[in-house]
Amino acid sequence: MGTLDTMTEVPLNVLMMESSERDALVILQELKRSGYVSHCERVDTIDSLTAAIPKKHWDVIICRYTMPRFCGLAAIRVVRDVGLDIPVVIVSDADGEETAGAAIKAGAADFISIREVGRLGAAVQRELREVRERRDRRRAEAALRRTEVELDEMQKGLVQSEKLAALGRFSSGIAHELKNPLGIVLGGIEFLEVKTKRGDPDVRTAVSKIKEAALRAAQIVDDILKFAKPSDLKLDLVDPNELVKDALSLFQYGIKSREIEIRADFAKESMRVKVDRNRIEQVLFNLFANAVESLEGQGSVHVGVMKRPRSTAFPHGACVIEVTDTGVGISPENLRRLFEPFFTTKRDQQGTGLGLFIAKNIVSHHNGDLKIESQAGKGTKAQVILQLAE
Ligand SMILES: Nc1ncnc2c1ncn2[C@@H]1O[C@H](COP(=O)(O)OP(=O)(O)OP(=O)(O)O)[C@@H](O)[C@H]1O
Ligand SMILES: [Mg+2]
Repeated sequence: MGTLDTMTEVPLNVLMMESSERDALVILQELKRSGYVSHCERVDTIDSLTAAIPKKHWDVIICRYTMPRFCGLAAIRVVRDVGLDIPVVIVSDADGEETAGAAIKAGAADFISIREVGRLGAAVQRELREVRERRDRRRAEAALRRTEVELDEMQKGLVQSEKLAALGRFSSGIAHELKNPLGIVLGGIEFLEVKTKRGDPDVRTAVSKIKEAALRAAQIVDDILKFAKPSDLKLDLVDPNELVKDALSLFQYGIKSREIEIRADFAKESMRVKVDRNRIEQVLFNLFANAVESLEGQGSVHVGVMKRPRSTAFPHGACVIEVTDTGVGISPENLRRLFEPFFTTKRDQQGTGLGLFIAKNIVSHHNGDLKIESQAGKGTKAQVILQLAE
């Protein structure tokens, strides 16, 4: 009855609440008869029980129902309060049904009268099995929750990229429609320029302002149309260190970055990426510009080129170009909208909000990835991840 299924000896960590040494021996003897090798610590006050619980992993707590300074129910409460899943088996002098009921209701795993101590082995075996089952269930549930979260994020990502693709198609549709009329407007402006060359200066100023606006509109249309056909990439094998170096020195000539020094760290390893140099430069330019603009005059920008080992997404390994700034950062609401066409917080500084939208598309057409992490008030990290050439 009270023996284990297998007759091999099973180690058992027992925390025992028992004031009588003789009864403790009876209990241990019974566990031994059932095939357990007990490592037992005996306590007889609630404080010593509380202190003993965190000391090691206990398989079971065996507790005398009433002791001079202790009641078994208090042990159950202590275990419940620490939140550990350790079965508490109550051993009692009497076998009153009422007391047994109260103990089980309070959370005891079993209630055994000392006369039927022969039941102890089977009770412990059953409790250990149930603890294992509960632990496995908790693990499975945690894994399920993790999978649900991942699935949810993947779905959100999918919806987001579909939304971006739809926005992209929509914007390039509009750009196509605008291209011809804009051509006519620009042609008309040139005609007016010639006609008003010696005319009223106010008219000439007006014409020049119209021209400026029309050129800006034409530039936007051009940007979108260029993005709409990134399939005609001119791919070359390029050293990413060189690519970043060139892009940086070109950018540093630009007006925007004159007062700000951009520090750079290049990869020690030699790498090759197969990219359209001009397009990736365009991506880097926008990231540099965004970083410098975010500083609003103070702070720093850092560029790093790193090699990343092979992964499922990048089977030949990857090159990461990281642009980090200590600028104003991006709020969580804006972070979600970064890659939408025309999303900008710089409308008053002539921002079009096409920079990241186009950059993301260029990088995607290279089978790479563009990621942006940011904390409002702290700064932003943009990462261009490119597949290494075979
Ligand atoms: N490094 C950065 N720090 C803070 N905000 C940023 C950063 N990069 C992007 N943003 C935010 O994302 C928005 C969109 O950036 P994006 O490059 O697409 O357009 P833009 O810079 O506003 O305009 P454009 O690039 O067309 O001149 C920016 O207006 C800004 O709010
Ligand atoms: Mg920009």
